[in-house]
Amino acid sequence: ITHEAAYRAHTNIALIKYWGKRNPELFLPVTSSLSLTLDAFYTETRIQFSPDYTRDTLYLNHKQMEADEMAHISHFVDLFRQEAGVQAACQINSINHVPTAAGLASSASAFAALGSACNTALGLNMDAQQLSTFVRQGSGSASRSVHGGFVLWHRGEGDVSSSSFTEQIDDANWDIGMLVVAVNTEVKPFSSRAGMQHTVETSPFYQQWPAEVEKDLALMLEAIEAQDFTTMGEISEHNAMKMHATMLAAKPSFTYFQGESILAMHLVQKLRREGLECYYTMDAGPNVKVLCRQSDMAHIKAAFAIHFKPDQLIEAKPGPGPEAIQWK
Ligand code: DP6
Repeated sequence: ITHEAAYRAHTNIALIKYWGKRNPELFLPVTSSLSLTLDAFYTETRIQFSPDYTRDTLYLNHKQMEADEMAHISHFVDLFRQEAGVQAACQINSINHVPTAAGLASSASAFAALGSACNTALGLNMDAQQLSTFVRQGSGSASRSVHGGFVLWHRGEGDVSSSSFTEQIDDANWDIGMLVVAVNTEVKPFSSRAGMQHTVETSPFYQQWPAEVEKDLALMLEAIEAQDFTTMGEISEHNAMKMHATMLAAKPSFTYFQGESILAMHLVQKLRREGLECYYTMDAGPNVKVLCRQSDMAHIKAAFAIHFKPDQLIEAKPGPGPEAIQWK
Protein backbone atom coordinates (compact mmCIF):
# COMPACT_ATOMS: atom_id res chain seq x y z
CA ILE A 1 0.00 0.00 0.00
CA THR A 2 1.43 3.31 -1.06
CA HIS A 3 -1.14 5.83 0.16
CA GLU A 4 -3.60 5.56 3.03
CA ALA A 5 -5.71 7.78 5.32
CA ALA A 6 -8.80 7.58 7.55
CA TYR A 7 -11.33 10.26 8.51
CA ARG A 8 -14.51 10.79 10.50
CA ALA A 9 -17.09 13.24 9.11
CA HIS A 10 -20.44 14.28 10.56
CA THR A 11 -23.76 14.68 8.86
CA ASN A 12 -25.54 18.01 8.49
CA ILE A 13 -29.15 19.19 8.36
CA ALA A 14 -30.08 22.08 6.10
CA LEU A 15 -31.99 25.00 7.61
CA ILE A 16 -32.15 26.61 4.17
CA LYS A 17 -32.56 23.71 1.76
CA TYR A 18 -30.67 22.69 -1.36
CA TRP A 19 -33.34 21.46 -3.77
CA GLY A 20 -32.45 21.35 -7.46
CA LYS A 21 -29.34 21.31 -9.64
CA ARG A 22 -28.53 23.71 -12.46
CA ASN A 23 -25.76 21.37 -13.65
CA PRO A 24 -26.27 17.71 -12.66
CA GLU A 25 -22.85 16.52 -13.93
CA LEU A 26 -20.98 18.95 -11.67
CA PHE A 27 -23.60 18.96 -8.86
CA LEU A 28 -23.97 22.73 -9.19
CA PRO A 29 -27.09 23.83 -7.25
CA VAL A 30 -29.85 26.21 -8.33
CA THR A 31 -29.53 28.11 -5.02
CA SER A 32 -27.21 28.57 -2.09
CA SER A 33 -28.10 26.70 1.12
CA LEU A 34 -27.24 26.70 4.81
CA SER A 35 -26.88 23.90 7.33
CA LEU A 36 -25.96 22.85 10.83
CA THR A 37 -23.44 20.02 11.23
CA LEU A 38 -24.53 17.54 13.95
CA ASP A 39 -22.44 15.54 16.39
CA ALA A 40 -24.72 12.47 16.70
CA PHE A 41 -24.42 11.00 13.20
CA TYR A 42 -21.12 10.34 11.44
CA THR A 43 -19.24 8.10 9.05
CA GLU A 44 -15.71 6.75 9.49
CA THR A 45 -13.86 5.87 6.30
CA ARG A 46 -10.42 4.56 5.44
CA ILE A 47 -9.02 4.55 1.92
CA GLN A 48 -5.95 2.66 0.74
CA PHE A 49 -4.42 3.05 -2.72
CA SER A 50 -2.15 0.32 -4.05
CA PRO A 51 -0.74 -0.59 -7.47
CA ASP A 52 -1.49 -4.19 -6.46
CA TYR A 53 -5.26 -3.68 -6.49
CA THR A 54 -6.92 -4.58 -9.78
CA ARG A 55 -10.10 -2.54 -9.17
CA ASP A 56 -11.78 -0.20 -6.68
CA THR A 57 -13.71 -1.88 -3.86
CA LEU A 58 -15.81 -0.51 -1.02
CA TYR A 59 -16.96 -2.26 2.13
CA LEU A 60 -19.82 -0.34 3.74
CA ASN A 61 -20.58 -1.61 7.25
CA HIS A 62 -18.47 -4.70 6.34
CA LYS A 63 -20.59 -5.49 3.27
CA GLN A 64 -19.09 -5.20 -0.21
CA MET A 65 -20.80 -2.69 -2.46
CA GLU A 66 -22.30 -3.85 -5.78
CA ALA A 67 -20.66 -2.93 -9.08
CA ASP A 68 -23.46 -0.58 -10.23
CA GLU A 69 -23.26 1.52 -7.04
CA MET A 70 -19.47 1.40 -7.24
CA ALA A 71 -19.41 3.35 -10.51
CA HIS A 72 -20.30 6.66 -8.83
CA ILE A 73 -17.72 6.03 -6.08
CA SER A 74 -14.94 5.31 -8.59
CA HIS A 75 -15.89 8.40 -10.58
CA PHE A 76 -15.69 10.41 -7.34
CA VAL A 77 -12.26 9.01 -6.40
CA ASP A 78 -11.13 9.70 -10.00
CA LEU A 79 -11.48 13.44 -9.35
CA PHE A 80 -8.82 13.13 -6.67
CA ARG A 81 -6.66 10.68 -8.65
CA GLN A 82 -6.61 13.06 -11.61
CA GLU A 83 -5.66 15.98 -9.39
CA ALA A 84 -2.81 13.93 -7.87
CA GLY A 85 -1.71 12.23 -11.11
CA VAL A 86 -2.19 8.82 -9.50
CA GLN A 87 -3.62 5.77 -11.25
CA ALA A 88 -3.70 3.14 -8.49
CA ALA A 89 -6.97 1.46 -7.58
CA CYS A 90 -8.28 1.73 -4.04
CA GLN A 91 -9.89 -0.21 -1.24
CA ILE A 92 -12.35 1.70 0.93
CA ASN A 93 -13.75 0.64 4.31
CA SER A 94 -16.59 2.70 5.66
CA ILE A 95 -18.70 2.47 8.81
CA ASN A 96 -21.85 4.51 9.32
CA HIS A 97 -22.51 5.51 12.91
CA VAL A 98 -26.20 6.24 12.92
CA PRO A 99 -28.40 5.26 15.85
CA THR A 100 -30.21 2.16 14.61
CA ALA A 101 -33.82 3.29 14.33
CA ALA A 102 -32.99 6.55 12.60
CA GLY A 103 -32.43 5.04 9.18
CA LEU A 104 -30.78 8.26 8.10
CA ALA A 105 -29.04 7.36 4.87
CA SER A 106 -26.03 9.55 5.21
CA SER A 107 -24.50 10.45 1.88
CA ALA A 108 -23.43 13.77 3.43
CA SER A 109 -21.11 12.32 6.07
CA ALA A 110 -20.08 9.48 3.72
CA PHE A 111 -18.73 11.67 0.91
CA ALA A 112 -17.23 14.21 3.31
CA ALA A 113 -15.29 11.41 5.06
CA LEU A 114 -14.24 9.75 1.79
CA GLY A 115 -13.19 13.04 0.18
CA SER A 116 -11.18 14.06 3.25
CA ALA A 117 -9.42 10.67 3.24
CA CYS A 118 -8.63 10.95 -0.49
CA ASN A 119 -7.24 14.45 0.02
CA THR A 120 -4.79 13.26 2.69
CA ALA A 121 -3.98 9.83 1.26
CA LEU A 122 -2.99 11.35 -2.09
CA GLY A 123 -1.08 14.22 -0.46
CA LEU A 124 -3.21 16.87 -2.16
CA ASN A 125 -3.31 19.26 0.81
CA MET A 126 -6.43 21.00 -0.48
CA ASP A 127 -7.89 23.50 1.96
CA ALA A 128 -11.49 22.99 3.11
CA GLN A 129 -12.88 25.40 0.51
CA GLN A 130 -11.33 23.58 -2.44
CA LEU A 131 -12.07 20.19 -0.89
CA SER A 132 -15.75 21.15 -0.65
CA THR A 133 -15.89 21.61 -4.45
CA PHE A 134 -14.66 18.03 -4.90
CA VAL A 135 -16.86 16.55 -2.16
CA ARG A 136 -19.88 18.29 -3.72
CA GLN A 137 -19.51 16.01 -6.74
CA GLY A 138 -20.19 12.95 -4.59
CA SER A 139 -23.36 14.39 -3.07
CA GLY A 140 -24.30 18.07 -2.96
CA SER A 141 -25.18 18.19 0.72
CA ALA A 142 -21.84 16.50 1.58
CA SER A 143 -20.00 19.68 0.62
CA ARG A 144 -21.45 21.29 3.76
CA SER A 145 -20.07 18.51 6.02
CA VAL A 146 -16.54 19.67 5.23
CA HIS A 147 -17.06 22.17 8.08
CA GLY A 148 -18.57 22.11 11.57
CA GLY A 149 -21.24 24.43 12.97
CA PHE A 150 -23.33 26.62 10.67
CA VAL A 151 -22.19 26.24 7.07
CA LEU A 152 -23.05 28.25 3.97
CA TRP A 153 -22.85 26.62 0.54
CA HIS A 154 -22.50 29.29 -2.15
CA ARG A 155 -24.34 28.48 -5.35
CA GLY A 156 -21.49 29.97 -7.41
CA GLU A 157 -21.47 31.21 -10.99
CA GLY A 158 -22.30 29.52 -14.30
CA ASP A 159 -20.62 26.17 -14.84
CA VAL A 160 -17.56 27.04 -12.76
CA SER A 161 -17.07 24.25 -10.22
CA SER A 162 -14.60 26.20 -8.07
CA SER A 163 -17.18 28.97 -7.49
CA SER A 164 -19.61 26.65 -5.68
CA PHE A 165 -17.91 26.05 -2.34
CA THR A 166 -18.83 25.95 1.36
CA GLU A 167 -17.64 27.94 4.36
CA GLN A 168 -18.30 27.95 8.08
CA ILE A 169 -20.14 31.11 9.08
CA ASP A 170 -20.48 30.40 12.82
CA ASP A 171 -19.19 27.61 15.05
CA ALA A 172 -22.68 27.23 16.62
CA ASN A 173 -21.06 27.16 20.01
CA TRP A 174 -24.20 28.48 21.69
CA ASP A 175 -27.49 27.17 23.04
CA ILE A 176 -28.62 25.11 20.01
CA GLY A 177 -29.78 21.52 19.75
CA MET A 178 -31.68 19.23 17.44
CA LEU A 179 -33.96 16.35 18.36
CA VAL A 180 -34.20 13.83 15.53
CA VAL A 181 -37.55 12.04 15.49
CA ALA A 182 -37.03 8.81 13.58
CA VAL A 183 -40.21 7.84 11.80
CA ASN A 184 -40.25 4.15 10.99
CA THR A 185 -41.67 3.36 7.62
CA GLU A 186 -42.15 0.49 5.23
CA VAL A 187 -42.30 2.92 2.33
CA LYS A 188 -39.04 3.23 0.42
CA PRO A 189 -38.70 6.93 -0.27
CA PHE A 190 -37.74 8.43 -3.58
CA SER A 191 -34.02 9.33 -3.40
CA SER A 192 -33.33 13.04 -2.91
CA ARG A 193 -31.53 13.04 -6.26
CA ALA A 194 -34.55 11.69 -8.16
CA GLY A 195 -37.03 13.71 -6.09
CA MET A 196 -35.34 17.03 -6.74
CA GLN A 197 -34.96 16.36 -10.46
CA HIS A 198 -38.62 15.39 -10.81
CA THR A 199 -39.62 18.55 -8.92
CA VAL A 200 -37.45 20.85 -11.03
CA GLU A 201 -38.88 19.32 -14.21
CA THR A 202 -42.58 19.20 -13.36
CA SER A 203 -43.58 21.42 -10.41
CA PRO A 204 -45.07 24.81 -11.33
CA PHE A 205 -44.26 25.97 -7.77
CA TYR A 206 -40.54 25.39 -8.35
CA GLN A 207 -40.32 28.66 -10.26
CA GLN A 208 -40.89 30.54 -7.01
CA TRP A 209 -38.31 28.51 -5.06
CA PRO A 210 -35.05 30.37 -5.90
CA ALA A 211 -36.52 33.76 -4.91
CA GLU A 212 -37.81 32.31 -1.62
CA VAL A 213 -34.38 30.88 -0.81
CA GLU A 214 -32.70 34.19 -1.53
CA LYS A 215 -34.99 36.03 0.90
CA ASP A 216 -34.80 33.32 3.57
CA LEU A 217 -31.02 33.07 3.35
CA ALA A 218 -30.47 36.81 3.83
CA LEU A 219 -32.70 36.79 6.94
CA MET A 220 -31.10 33.59 8.25
CA LEU A 221 -27.59 35.00 8.00
CA GLU A 222 -28.68 38.05 10.03
CA ALA A 223 -30.43 35.83 12.58
CA ILE A 224 -27.34 33.64 13.09
CA GLU A 225 -25.14 36.70 13.42
CA ALA A 226 -27.50 38.04 16.11
CA GLN A 227 -27.95 34.58 17.72
CA ASP A 228 -31.68 35.20 17.28
CA PHE A 229 -33.08 31.71 17.84
CA THR A 230 -36.71 32.65 17.18
CA THR A 231 -36.08 34.10 13.74
CA MET A 232 -33.76 31.21 12.86
CA GLY A 233 -36.41 28.68 13.80
CA GLU A 234 -39.24 30.46 12.00
CA ILE A 235 -37.26 30.78 8.78
CA SER A 236 -36.02 27.15 8.90
CA GLU A 237 -39.51 25.79 9.34
CA HIS A 238 -41.01 27.98 6.63
CA ASN A 239 -38.19 27.21 4.18
CA ALA A 240 -38.57 23.46 4.68
CA MET A 241 -42.33 23.55 4.19
CA LYS A 242 -41.96 25.63 1.02
CA MET A 243 -39.59 22.96 -0.32
CA HIS A 244 -42.08 20.21 0.51
CA ALA A 245 -44.84 22.24 -1.15
CA THR A 246 -42.91 22.17 -4.45
CA MET A 247 -43.07 18.35 -4.29
CA LEU A 248 -46.81 18.24 -3.64
CA ALA A 249 -47.24 20.32 -6.81
CA ALA A 250 -45.01 18.05 -8.93
CA LYS A 251 -46.63 15.87 -11.61
CA PRO A 252 -47.13 13.19 -10.49
CA SER A 253 -47.27 14.61 -6.99
CA PHE A 254 -45.24 13.05 -4.20
CA THR A 255 -44.39 13.64 -0.57
CA TYR A 256 -41.97 12.38 2.06
CA PHE A 257 -44.51 12.98 4.82
CA GLN A 258 -45.80 9.95 6.71
CA GLY A 259 -48.51 9.89 9.37
CA GLU A 260 -45.96 10.04 12.18
CA SER A 261 -44.15 12.95 10.49
CA ILE A 262 -47.34 14.99 10.70
CA LEU A 263 -47.89 13.89 14.29
CA ALA A 264 -44.39 15.14 15.16
CA MET A 265 -44.95 18.49 13.44
CA HIS A 266 -48.26 18.99 15.25
CA LEU A 267 -46.52 18.22 18.53
CA VAL A 268 -43.94 20.93 17.85
CA GLN A 269 -46.74 23.43 17.18
CA LYS A 270 -48.46 22.40 20.42
CA LEU A 271 -45.25 22.78 22.45
CA ARG A 272 -44.80 26.23 20.96
CA ARG A 273 -48.31 27.27 21.93
CA GLU A 274 -47.43 26.13 25.45
CA GLY A 275 -44.37 28.37 25.46
CA LEU A 276 -41.66 25.78 24.72
CA GLU A 277 -39.93 27.19 21.70
CA CYS A 278 -39.00 24.67 18.97
CA TYR A 279 -39.30 24.36 15.19
CA TYR A 280 -39.32 21.52 12.68
CA THR A 281 -37.58 20.73 9.43
CA MET A 282 -37.74 17.69 7.13
CA ASP A 283 -35.62 16.37 4.26
CA ALA A 284 -36.01 13.67 1.62
CA GLY A 285 -37.45 11.16 4.09
CA PRO A 286 -40.11 10.86 6.81
CA ASN A 287 -37.94 11.82 9.81
CA VAL A 288 -38.62 15.11 11.56
CA LYS A 289 -35.78 17.19 12.97
CA VAL A 290 -36.73 19.53 15.80
CA LEU A 291 -34.56 22.61 16.20
CA CYS A 292 -34.48 23.75 19.82
CA ARG A 293 -32.36 25.31 22.50
CA GLN A 294 -30.06 22.68 24.00
CA SER A 295 -31.23 23.88 27.43
CA ASP A 296 -34.85 22.92 26.51
CA MET A 297 -33.89 19.51 25.07
CA ALA A 298 -34.88 17.42 28.11
CA HIS A 299 -38.37 18.97 28.25
CA ILE A 300 -38.95 18.61 24.52
CA LYS A 301 -37.76 15.03 24.49
CA ALA A 302 -40.04 14.19 27.41
CA ALA A 303 -43.02 15.60 25.51
CA PHE A 304 -42.15 13.50 22.45
CA ALA A 305 -41.61 10.40 24.59
CA ILE A 306 -45.39 10.28 25.21
CA HIS A 307 -45.97 9.55 21.50
CA PHE A 308 -42.70 7.98 20.30
CA LYS A 309 -40.53 5.09 21.49
CA PRO A 310 -37.21 5.92 23.20
CA ASP A 311 -35.11 4.64 20.28
CA GLN A 312 -37.02 6.94 17.89
CA LEU A 313 -35.72 10.05 19.69
CA ILE A 314 -32.09 11.02 19.16
CA GLU A 315 -30.54 14.12 20.69
CA ALA A 316 -27.96 16.01 18.67
CA LYS A 317 -25.76 19.03 19.24
CA PRO A 318 -23.69 21.06 16.79
CA GLY A 319 -20.83 18.95 15.48
CA PRO A 320 -17.30 19.49 14.12
CA GLY A 321 -15.78 19.28 10.66
CA PRO A 322 -13.91 16.16 9.44
CA GLU A 323 -11.22 14.76 11.72
CA ALA A 324 -8.33 12.43 10.89
CA ILE A 325 -8.66 9.17 12.85
CA GLN A 326 -6.64 6.10 13.68
CA TRP A 327 -8.17 3.09 11.85
CA LYS A 328 -8.50 0.01 13.99
C1 DP6 B 1 -33.64 17.60 0.96
O1 DP6 B 1 -27.31 16.12 -1.29
O2 DP6 B 1 -28.75 14.05 -1.07
O3 DP6 B 1 -31.66 16.94 2.09
O4 DP6 B 1 -26.64 16.18 -4.52
O5 DP6 B 1 -28.16 14.52 -5.57
O6 DP6 B 1 -26.58 13.80 -3.75
P1 DP6 B 1 -27.44 14.92 -4.33
O7 DP6 B 1 -28.59 15.22 -3.27
P2 DP6 B 1 -28.52 15.38 -1.70
O8 DP6 B 1 -29.81 16.29 -1.47
C2 DP6 B 1 -30.14 16.81 -0.22
C3 DP6 B 1 -31.52 17.40 -0.26
C4 DP6 B 1 -32.13 17.77 1.07
C5 DP6 B 1 -31.87 19.24 1.40
C6 DP6 B 1 -30.47 19.59 1.87
O9 DP6 B 1 -29.78 18.78 2.48
O10 DP6 B 1 -30.09 20.75 1.62
